[in-house]
Formats: sequence, C-alpha cells, structure tokens
Amino acid sequence: MLNSSTHKITPMKILVTGGAGFIGSNFIHYMLAAHPDVEIVNFDALTYAGNLENLTAVEREARYTFVKGDITVAADVAALFAAHAVDAVVHFAAESHVDRSLHIGPEAFIRTNILGTQLLLDAFRAAGARGAKRPRRFVHVSTDEVYGSLGPEGRFTENSPIKPNNPYAATKAASDFMVLAAHHSYGVDAVITRCSNNFGPYQFPEKLIPLMIANALEDKPLPVYGDGQQRRDWIYVADHCQALDYVLRQGRAGQVYNIGGGQDVTNLEVIRLILKLLQKPESLIQHVTDRPGHDRRYAMDSTRIETELGWRRQFDFAAALKATVDWYRQNSAWWQCIRSGQYSKYYETIYGNR
Ligand code: NAD
Ligand code: TYD
Repeated sequence: MLNSSTHKITPMKILVTGGAGFIGSNFIHYMLAAHPDVEIVNFDALTYAGNLENLTAVEREARYTFVKGDITVAADVAALFAAHAVDAVVHFAAESHVDRSLHIGPEAFIRTNILGTQLLLDAFRAAGARGAKRPRRFVHVSTDEVYGSLGPEGRFTENSPIKPNNPYAATKAASDFMVLAAHHSYGVDAVITRCSNNFGPYQFPEKLIPLMIANALEDKPLPVYGDGQQRRDWIYVADHCQALDYVLRQGRAGQVYNIGGGQDVTNLEVIRLILKLLQKPESLIQHVTDRPGHDRRYAMDSTRIETELGWRRQFDFAAALKATVDWYRQNSAWWQCIRSGQYSKYYETIYGNR
C-alpha cells in the first residue's frame, strides 16, 4: 500500500473506464482504500468481461459512481463528460484476450481498443476546451505485448520497437499511437503505461492463471499450448495498481512507462506451482495445439518508473500466486457463476478442436 503521508494526493475525481473488469476493479478498490480524497466514476459497457460483482464492496460508497456506457458510442462518452467534471481519466476499457482476437476475430478489438480510445481522447479534449473544470491527465493502460516477442535474453525498454504479433496486441499498439498523437498534436496531458501479465483476484477465467486454477479445482484437464516453454513476466495486480497511481500523480506527460514483475517464468512452471498449491496431480496437464503466432517470451525493464517515480514491486511471485490460488478457492461461486453461462460456449470454440 502507498504510504499516504509521503505520497500526497490532492482531492481528485477520476474517471475509470473498464472498471468492472479485472484490473479496473482492483484499481478502484485500491484507490478508494489508499486515498480518502479520491472519487471514482466507473464507466463500463459490461461486456462478457465486465462484472459488477467485482465491486459489491464499494457500491454503496459515496465516493464511487457507476455509469453504464460504451466508449465506442460518442453520445455515451459526451454525456459522461457533461455529467461528471473529472480531473483525470485512467483508461482500462478494452477487449483484452489474445485467443478471442485470434479465434472470434479482431473486429470488436478494432472497435473498442482503437475507435473507443480515439472517441475518449476527443471527448477528453472537448471537456478541456469547455473549460469549467479541465480534466488534467489521461492515463492509457497498455501492455508489453505491443513490443512483440523476445529471444531468450534481454528485456523490453520503452525504446524497444513496436512489433505486435496478434490482433489484440496490434490494436493496443494502434491505440498507443493515437494517445501519443493526441499529446503531440493537441497537447493532451497523456501518459502511457505498458505492463506485463497480471494475475490476482477477479481475473476472468479465460486467462492462464485463473483458468488453470479453476480447471484444477474441478479436476479438469489443464490445456497447455504447445510445449509450455513460453515465458511471461508475471506481476501481481496490486503492484500494477500502485504503479498506475504513481504514474497518474507523478508521471511526465507524453512519456511511456514500462511496468513489470521482474521475473519471467515458463507457463509450465506456473502450472506446476498451481497444481502443487492445490495438491493436484501433474497428470491433469494436457498439451494442446499451440496458439498461432504465439509470442515466446515477454520480459520488462522497469528502470524508468523505478528511477523517475520511485515505484518498486512489492509482491513476490510465489507468495502472490499462493494468495491468488487461495482467493479462487475461497470465491468459487464467483468463477463458477461465470463458467456456467456463455463461457461454456466460448470454451468449446477455443478448445473444442485442439
Ligand atoms: P478485462 O477484459 O478483464 O476488462 C475489460 C473491461 O472493459 C470490462 O469490464 C469490459 O466490460 C470493459 N469494456 C470492454 N469494452 C468496452 C467498451 N466498448 N466500453 C466500455 N467498457 C468496455 O481486462 P483487464 O485484464 O482488466 O485489462 C484492462 C486493461 O489493461 C486493458 O486495456 C488491457 O489491455 C490492459 N492490460 C492488461 C494486462 C493483463 O494481464 N490482464 C496486462 C497489461 C495491460
Ligand atoms: P494469457 O493469460 O492468455 O495472456 P497473454 O496471451 O496475454 O500472455 O496467456 C498466458 C500464457 O499462457 C500464453 O503464453 C498462452 C498460455 N496459455 C496456455 O498455455 N493455455 C491456455 O489455456 C491459456 C489461456 C494460455
């Protein structure tokens, strides 16, 4: 947690887009707890990935407001800024899953991630021009995937080439460029963060860690793509939320900040740890056809955010993974409810023929 005596924040009303999703909901919990002067407006379309149950603990909180709306609908976004004089935007709303972008198609990704980000930037600028209370800062939450895949050595810096390899990553890269263009062309006070793979409570069970925990708890096969030797730089979601808080308050306009967990591990290592924590047999592991164009390795160099803003990762991977496994074990109703609905059709689409 931030030490609020050393990290002062002025009263601030923050528009969070996509706050009913995994990282957005964790960020809302984090900010309301860490900063008594912060108010949050959560704007979310409640797609399959948005779940207001992630926010039941704060829904009666006077400093929290939920507005249902779609960032791809200009009228929704204009009405939002007209009704709420916000100081800053933290933009999470996105289509976020690589496999969906590959198997269901990129259209929704292009619409939300590119067009939605553009409409939000336009409305942000228009609200500034109206003048009454000018939103100061636009934090765009992006991903390490825009850099593409690494070889066995090295880490991505903010100067690494942008080389996205799948439709999800390509749309995130495009949205990053739109944000940078708004900064350079119109002077928008925008900052971009690029974070590595998150894990923790409320992550939708289509992503590796919650999927493997849920399948193991139900004694179902754990589908490992290809040889399982792909490496990801896992970060506990609370560390990401804290980094975003630092960037929101202290980041330099027009700058990109990489955020990483500092430890890249193979998918098979992660899965074996989960099985061990749950005391389930490794015979549940099932190698399936690899993801097309599967990025082999991601690893982030977080030197800039550490040296410029003083952020440091606080959670160790093994301890945070155990806390996450415990959370999914204790909150089985949360993910079982998701998996009993539309999700089963999705699972059949993605995994049926592998
Ligand atoms: P998520 O899929 O769990 O949540 C996305 C949220 O956005 C949902 O609540 C959904 O309802 C909402 N949304 C989608 N389309 C919308 C639209 N058109 N209008 C309004 N709301 C809409 O995603 P997440 O994993 O929490 O990721 C959040 C952000 O962080 C994304 O921008 C993602 O690219 C980025 N990111 C994620 C990770 C990760 O490991 N999950 C890592 C780095 C960056
Ligand atoms: P994922 O959580 O989808 O994140 P990303 O693709 O953004 O890194 O996947 C993490 C890694 O786990 C990635 O290398 C793909 C792999 N994976 C599997 O092996 N099996 C699965 O069922 C899933 C969902 C992912």
